[in-house]
Amino acid sequence: MEAFLDFLGDIPWWTWILIFLLIVAIRDIFFQKAHTISHNFPIVGHLRYWLESIGPEMRQYFVANNREELPFNRIERSWIYASAKKENNYEGFGTDRDIYKHQHIFVKNAMIGYQVPENHPNIKDPYFIPCAKVMGAYNKRKKPYRPASVINVSAMSFGSLSAAAIESLNKGVEKCHAYHNTGEGGLSPYHKQGGDVIFHFGTGYFGVRSKDGNLSMEKLKILVDENPCIKAIEIKLSQGAKPGKGGVLPGSKITHELAEIRGVEVGKDVISPPTHKAFKNIPELMELIESIAHETGLPVGIKGAIGKVDQWEELADLMIKTGRGPDFITIDGGEGGTGAAPPSFADHVSLPWTYGFSSVYKLFLDRGLTERIVFIGSGKLGFPAKAAMAFAMGADCINVAREAMMSIGCIQAQVCHTNRCPSGVATQNKWLQNGINVPLKSDRLAQYFKTFRKEFLEITHAAGYEHPCQFHMEDIQVNVDDDYLSSNLRSVYKYQKEKVDFDSMQKLYDCVHLGGQPSLEKTL
Ligand SMILES: Cc1cc2nc3c(=O)[nH]c(=O)nc-3n(C[C@H](O)[C@H](O)[C@H](O)COP(=O)(O)O)c2cc1C
Repeated sequence: MEAFLDFLGDIPWWTWILIFLLIVAIRDIFFQKAHTISHNFPIVGHLRYWLESIGPEMRQYFVANNREELPFNRIERSWIYASAKKENNYEGFGTDRDIYKHQHIFVKNAMIGYQVPENHPNIKDPYFIPCAKVMGAYNKRKKPYRPASVINVSAMSFGSLSAAAIESLNKGVEKCHAYHNTGEGGLSPYHKQGGDVIFHFGTGYFGVRSKDGNLSMEKLKILVDENPCIKAIEIKLSQGAKPGKGGVLPGSKITHELAEIRGVEVGKDVISPPTHKAFKNIPELMELIESIAHETGLPVGIKGAIGKVDQWEELADLMIKTGRGPDFITIDGGEGGTGAAPPSFADHVSLPWTYGFSSVYKLFLDRGLTERIVFIGSGKLGFPAKAAMAFAMGADCINVAREAMMSIGCIQAQVCHTNRCPSGVATQNKWLQNGINVPLKSDRLAQYFKTFRKEFLEITHAAGYEHPCQFHMEDIQVNVDDDYLSSNLRSVYKYQKEKVDFDSMQKLYDCVHLGGQPSLEKTL
């Protein structure tokens, strides 16, 4: 034995490398049948697969220019990271964007901006921008809700995101008085960390599911009664990244805890059906909205990505006829994100946000219904100038998903569907999520929202307004073409946003339905 070990020890190191490469070459040529490149080019063929796998990171760090990448380019990501860390998020030497480019937007500033008077709520808190409308006020719900922040966390489930990420988001929204939408995966313990919650369900009815896979009103009622953090309920019709497709949670992400919360099997893909069992048409959807609102006392809304508008018209007509309807409508853009979706859906199904939102808002406007509804926009709107555009078009609140993920450490690795998210945000892998420092990340989310609101308010003041709800279509200009260079939103989208009933920030602050309590009282 000793002689054998001595013999092995005498073999030079480079011979070991050659032996290893020889074994790889034999495997490539004779034993593996799956990869032609490795077979035809043994050993070196592996380099191709390796380079391909690290290509996105290489391009992101070394090759792509500042404004090149999608979904979010380097400048956008850096702005979120710097804002979340309360670092210098300014840029020097002027814009690096081609401001004559198609679709570039401009906010028109006033000659003399809005001057904040003494004792104004924004003198004490420069981050305070509550929603100008109250969810559920028109329909006289028992528990109306005024979001204390116009920027909030969009639907992302526990499952698509890790427990540590959900906990960071919830603790973060508590710190900045925003709300946290649960996404389709039900209400987990990580959603109950002090922040306001909008309970969202899709066709899987996770957390409120009856034995036959339908919505259980009984369970929903109990959930709402036991969890006063739930301020409103959102029914998901579709989302921009995959309308017409149910939620997809890959089996690799289904842990024991998740399986228990959702009522599904460990390790097996969870695919929600594409359509709802609880309603089949618009009148039945209206009925469901009313019965949920009646049973829970909460405002009830719907979320959808926009394609054809005939059923939206039917909904609006029915709202006129019955005097009822959803308390809020979330319009998601085709550019929206997802934990997992087929590229054909993510790339092609449903309209981008500006087209989708304008067509739906317009049809409610034509019927005089906009005052009844809180309009929420989502789809890469997590930046102050984009938010100003959205408000000018009629949005009352903005939901952000991926921007919120980035504020807590997501690096846009785009592997949410693999359970291998390197930042621990979109994975159920314990090792990866252990890297998330929840108190620190919750501060980051809160700081991103605060910086966002502060800058949004500064743009609002520059345009001569006290609250962003006062933006109207003529305040924003967009480059539409090369020959007719630039046009205001009113002439591009052919409507004028309905004036929002706004008196003063002080009145909003004094509102008894204002959310984000009681922590808000400590700041103002
Ligand atoms: C990881 C992840 C999970 C998501 N889960 C849901 C969901 O459960 N339900 C839903 O309606 N939308 C879901 N979305 C879509 C977002 O709520 C949002 O509408 C969309 O990403 C657009 O916002 P953004 O551009 O700020 O990311 C998810 C998005 C991401 C990135």
